[in-house]
Amino acid sequence: MPKFPKERRFSLHGQWSSRLAFIFAVSGSAVGLGNVWKFPYIAGVNGGGAFVLVYLVCVFVIGLPIMMSEILMGRRGRRNPVETMALLGQEEGGTSRWGIVGVVGVATGFFILSYYSVIAGWAVAYIFEGASGAFRGADAQQVEQLFSRISGNWFITGFWHTAFMALTIFVVAKGVKGGLERAVRILMPALIGLLLLLLIYSMIAGDFARGFAFLFEPKFSELTGAGVLEALGHAFFTLSVGMGAVMAYGAYLPAESSIGRTSIAVVVADTLIAIVAGLVIFPIVFANGLDPAAGPGLIFQSLPLAFGQLPGGSFVAVTFFLLLSFAAWTSAISLMEPAVAWLIERQKLLRSVAAIVIGGLIWLLGFLTVFSNSVLSELTFFQGTFFDNIDFVTSNIALPVGGLAIVVFAGWFMSASSTSEELDPDAGLGYQLWRFSARFIAPVAVVCIFLNAVGVF
Ligand code: PHE
Repeated sequence: MPKFPKERRFSLHGQWSSRLAFIFAVSGSAVGLGNVWKFPYIAGVNGGGAFVLVYLVCVFVIGLPIMMSEILMGRRGRRNPVETMALLGQEEGGTSRWGIVGVVGVATGFFILSYYSVIAGWAVAYIFEGASGAFRGADAQQVEQLFSRISGNWFITGFWHTAFMALTIFVVAKGVKGGLERAVRILMPALIGLLLLLLIYSMIAGDFARGFAFLFEPKFSELTGAGVLEALGHAFFTLSVGMGAVMAYGAYLPAESSIGRTSIAVVVADTLIAIVAGLVIFPIVFANGLDPAAGPGLIFQSLPLAFGQLPGGSFVAVTFFLLLSFAAWTSAISLMEPAVAWLIERQKLLRSVAAIVIGGLIWLLGFLTVFSNSVLSELTFFQGTFFDNIDFVTSNIALPVGGLAIVVFAGWFMSASSTSEELDPDAGLGYQLWRFSARFIAPVAVVCIFLNAVGVF
């Protein structure tokens, strides 16, 4: 008989109705701006192929075992990430101080969402720009002007950031069953359908051969230590691991669902969507003579130009930015959930109150990013603007460090009997593989990439 405590058969926040609902939810979290906005732009900046290869290795070799660890810990603890880490820390590691990992994770989600919502706000703004025909026949200069008119205007950007946060708070306030599940059930299939539509469009209208070669032909000379760290950070970011988002969702997973198969499905889906997004974007970039290394504005500057040159382009543009906003929404929900669940459990607040308090604070913090593209754009330090710094510290440092702590806890501090109880006890080889990765491969790889980035090797 499993020694699993009976009161933790269920979470106090409710449960997913099925394994499929959980897969929808975790892939809704994973698939977002990371796949569609960030992956193409950082792959472009880092020269394509070689960066993509490192990213793929990081996703499967490091990200997958960490995702499994997060889900199994979430389901075993059945609480918000802070309480789960503290509780399991007490049970398995002898100290509830492991809760710190959860606290850092909650804070990381907080900071990520503060800028994530601003970028998502641009995407929402572009739905309306596309619908109004603003891209039709526009040349490079006009499209650039449009981007700076939106991203450089604190009022417009702030307005859409506010709208996006309001939508996110709304879903989180409605809770796991009422809000999250219903939203992702509709949004995920819609997203995949829209992306495939755009892929066909890109195959016909874009320079597909060049886009394909850019993404898959490795040129290792273009890859730096910082680029490898960025690939690692992005592997964490795109899979939503390292901060407890997946752990929070794991707490709502029914006891009998397979964690291994679920994680593999999510990781494969997330990776395919990023690759498809790249295959949509780069052929259009090359067919129009644009710069693949254009940076965070890549999709906002290059795609409208391409859309604008094509008949029916306004419709494609609206579809694309609608897709991006949906994807960002389901991710934003998961960025907020750990903090909200924590506040509910700690302060015994109503879910709606907790969502408004947390969301309101994140909304305020978001203005640092709003201003760093407008009135504070001259104020730079360390990595650049406020936005650059929040992005760098959260993705490239906080997520890998959080993920490292999680996987070391699951691999070294949790007993084999607890972890095997959660991960299909009868799937012998799969379990051994997970445990070996969690104990050795993932931690060593993360440490090596850090050392490499600071120039030790
Ligand atoms: N994975 C999301 C994306 O790719 C972002 C995210 C990061 C969500 C961390 C939750 C936690 O857009």
